[in-house]
Amino acid sequence: MGRLRDDLVGRGLVDGLPEAFLAGITRFARPPQPELDALAAAARGLAARLAAGDAGDDDLPLLTRVLFSAGHGGLLADAGVPTPAYDVLGSYRDNLTTPVGPRLRERPRAGDRRWRVLGRDVGFPIGVPACVLNGGEEWVRHNARNGYSVLTYKTVRSRAHEPNTQPNWVFAARETQSLPPGAAAEVTADPWDWVEPGSPDVSTVNSFGVPSLTPEEWMADLERSLATIDDDQLLVVSVMGEGNGTGLVDDFAATARLAEESGASVVELNLSCPNTLNPSASGVKPPLCLDADASVAVVEGVRRALDDRTGLVAKLSWLDEAALAALVPRLAPLVDGVAGINTLQSRVRRSDGEPTFPGRGLAGLSGAAVRDSALDFTRRLVALREAGGRHFDVLAMGGVTDPASFKALFALGADAVQSASGAFANPFLARDCVAALGETLPCALEPAR
Ligand SMILES: Cc1cc2nc3c(=O)[nH]c(=O)nc-3n(C[C@H](O)[C@H](O)[C@H](O)COP(=O)(O)O)c2cc1C
Repeated sequence: MGRLRDDLVGRGLVDGLPEAFLAGITRFARPPQPELDALAAAARGLAARLAAGDAGDDDLPLLTRVLFSAGHGGLLADAGVPTPAYDVLGSYRDNLTTPVGPRLRERPRAGDRRWRVLGRDVGFPIGVPACVLNGGEEWVRHNARNGYSVLTYKTVRSRAHEPNTQPNWVFAARETQSLPPGAAAEVTADPWDWVEPGSPDVSTVNSFGVPSLTPEEWMADLERSLATIDDDQLLVVSVMGEGNGTGLVDDFAATARLAEESGASVVELNLSCPNTLNPSASGVKPPLCLDADASVAVVEGVRRALDDRTGLVAKLSWLDEAALAALVPRLAPLVDGVAGINTLQSRVRRSDGEPTFPGRGLAGLSGAAVRDSALDFTRRLVALREAGGRHFDVLAMGGVTDPASFKALFALGADAVQSASGAFANPFLARDCVAALGETLPCALEPAR
């Protein structure tokens, strides 16, 4: 706290802090007046204590929120204070090159133990899935250093695609418990909501709409990203096509080929995006994997287009028993891995009843709220793998926010476990998992002793 306070005073930031904080929390919508007054009073009291040299460690949680919302998350990270990894007030472009959270001096390792994932021996089977936290080289470097060894480069497309209008990512602070598997969620989330960094109960809602740079831009970035990871780390590349029928298949295949040309050894197909815009009433389309025939056509088309040596992963949403059982046996002969779950498409409103993401009534829910959905999906996926007798790796994700939730998904038979919301909210998640489980997590590849 002392170091942070000196830094703030030295930079002359203390006086302007309450106003900068209020500008941040009112950026996309205005809290009800009593809530706004309370937040303003808290920030002013904090600034006064900082100025007087009276701020103590008890003030750190409030100071973290105030600095993050004032756009000074980087100062927290410099002082080693946990902070969310992505600046939700900044634009997608602003965030592409600037992970916010602290970076460890040394990559946490589980000694010389290795886990086999999609053809590679990896240092510890935790990763960050396709999302804005793996949107480019700087993010890949950041996550790889912080101990994530199974990374999936954010979904890219065959042409540039702008993000949906902001806000794009909001804490779902009221969703602290897991919903029943696949529950159609009605979520209340305000753009100024906050969850303390490191909370295992964190949930979020997002509506980015799968933005993409031009292929020229992302291919060059991807080549550099592949070069930044260690030999015992894996970078999968997520792609998505657009259009209908054969146009959709061809676009998926062309984009997968571009990823392969850039050096990707494994390509993941995003068959589960909950945020694709549609001129229908709700503003967004259902995930593609709800249509088994269309999904299989895409996977077949991509498999034909790629080199036989390139690994292929299908990323799915939570599907009910009948839908998953109908799809997986058709995918199994075509893929090397199945990833899931994607975010749960949910109706998301602010506390005043307006959509949290203007113009898009539906958005993707993730984190603690989808934990039971992920457990349920992974359990059934692994059972279908065993029943089908055809091996594919399972990349499990959904609600992993601490070592216990990591272990629970892994124990179901996943080959690797990834975290988006947990990695966003807790910059030390991978380190904590390696510390808690590095020596005991079962693995097929025990080093010679
Ligand atoms: C902000 C954000 C952006 C995401 N973008 C993508 C994406 O581009 N492609 C994709 O396949 N999944 C995307 N996801 C879904 C995650 O990869 C993951 O499947 C989901 O968030 C569940 O994991 P979690 O509970 O750990 O967040 C995104 C998730 C979040 C939170």
